[in-house]
Amino acid sequence: MKVSNICCIGAGYVGGPTMTMIAAKCPHIKVNVVDINQKRIDSWNDPDVNNIPIYEPGLSDLVKKTRGENLFFTTDVNQAILDADMIFISVNTPTKTYGVGKGMAADLKYIELCARQIAEVATSDKIIVEKSTLPVRTAEALRSILDNTGNGVHFDILSNPEFLAEGTAVSDLLNPDRVLIGAENTEKGKKAQQALVDVYSNWVSQERILTTNVWSSELSKLTANAFLAQRVSSINALSELCEVTEADVNEVARAIGTDSRIGAKFLQSSVGFGGSCFQKDILNLVYIAQTYGLQEVADYWEQVIIMNDHQKRRFAKKIVKTLFNTVSGKKITLLGWAFKKDTNDTRESAAIYVADYLLNEQAEVTVYDPKVTSEQIYSDLNYLGTRSDEENRRLLKVESGPMKAVENAHATAVLTEWDEFVQYDWKDIYERMLKPAFLFDGRMLLDHEKMKQIGFDVYTIGKG
Ligand code: UDX
Ligand code: ADP
Repeated sequence: MKVSNICCIGAGYVGGPTMTMIAAKCPHIKVNVVDINQKRIDSWNDPDVNNIPIYEPGLSDLVKKTRGENLFFTTDVNQAILDADMIFISVNTPTKTYGVGKGMAADLKYIELCARQIAEVATSDKIIVEKSTLPVRTAEALRSILDNTGNGVHFDILSNPEFLAEGTAVSDLLNPDRVLIGAENTEKGKKAQQALVDVYSNWVSQERILTTNVWSSELSKLTANAFLAQRVSSINALSELCEVTEADVNEVARAIGTDSRIGAKFLQSSVGFGGSCFQKDILNLVYIAQTYGLQEVADYWEQVIIMNDHQKRRFAKKIVKTLFNTVSGKKITLLGWAFKKDTNDTRESAAIYVADYLLNEQAEVTVYDPKVTSEQIYSDLNYLGTRSDEENRRLLKVESGPMKAVENAHATAVLTEWDEFVQYDWKDIYERMLKPAFLFDGRMLLDHEKMKQIGFDVYTIGKG
């Protein structure tokens, strides 16, 4: 089975970069990335590649090389389905906001719509690849829809979860730790699996391509994210203890990280993890465990989320407490809104929750982020539903430059670890702020001794 035409449904943070890499590494394969969002597709097709909808270091260069050659972005979903040998489903799977499993289970309605559309349109056999993160046994539901509503053509279903992290998507795709491909245990299933192995083999070495059954693959994605998030919550739990014991969480992280069994990565204490995956996937894991009656398993993983919520809240509380127990009418500047550096993605970013807390305390919040638009910031706040759009726009200001943002601020808080924040002229920032000038470092990013010498009152996560 040789693949020469790929369709990817969903031109988001997963579908866009992944398909760009496949197109770049497989010039013999035509790749159509489709989306129902016309605006998003228009941005992907913007003649100026710097305007593509996703900011990722190195991505625009790759798009420039491949777009119009063997990589195409379109809203013509049906034609792309018809033409494809292999269809990746990369649509969003947010946490359900209604009904059974509200606030925990993954909402699979977009996946189901895709499956129904593929079944209705396809006139030849197709390999369907689950790329979005899905609850274990989703492939079963997909199979049922495809077989019961299809035109009698054959569908093979593969699970190929994406492990790229935002901000490093291009290098993660280029040099993945592993590519995981789960397949149904049938002769045809194995052939489909091999077809996808062959696609990745164009640039990934064989020993890094792992093949499993579909269920192991689906569950491995949730498990990987749960383990990573657990490490962040573990070090964040310790950060609070460090603050009261005069230990330094960075020193503790370094000390334990040199143990090869523990390893040094993902031990950076922060204001709390964000992103589209960690919280959603753990809630999903908790929900699945509960569904099977495994309450202890569910409670164990839920604690990772409880700790993360606590970390975000306690950072915001610390700001209020330090500013003499009131921030009412005070200007607080947040540097960073993205959930991590080098991305314009803000989903579940700690900054959203810190801002909301401060707005509830009647602070005048000002935000500066190098890559996030003001419309995105207001949309994130509005999504919480705490107050009206009008009120959010009145209380929170977005600035396009850092120096204006800190002008006359009572406090500045670093919420994203953007490299440029370290380079700023902090003496100038100090002079622009009201005194005492409070500095809260939610990322342990700055040189705190230097900041104290400049005159700042410094509070950082994880240090007494
Ligand atoms: C994550 C997984 O890493 C990736 O494999 C999966 O495909 C999707 O989910 P992502 O959410 O893009 O990727 O970013 P990641 O680098 O994992 O960071 C997630 C959050 O944890 C960020 O808010 C980050 O700032 C935070 N974090 C990470 C810490 O606070 N400390 C750390 O040591 C590491
Ligand atoms: P992720 O981070 O998982 O890539 P995104 O939200 O960035 O998630 O991207 C998912 C994309 O899938 C969105 O652009 C959305 O418009 C698209 N999408 C959702 N449902 C469909 C569908 N039925 N057909 C085509 N595109 C879809």
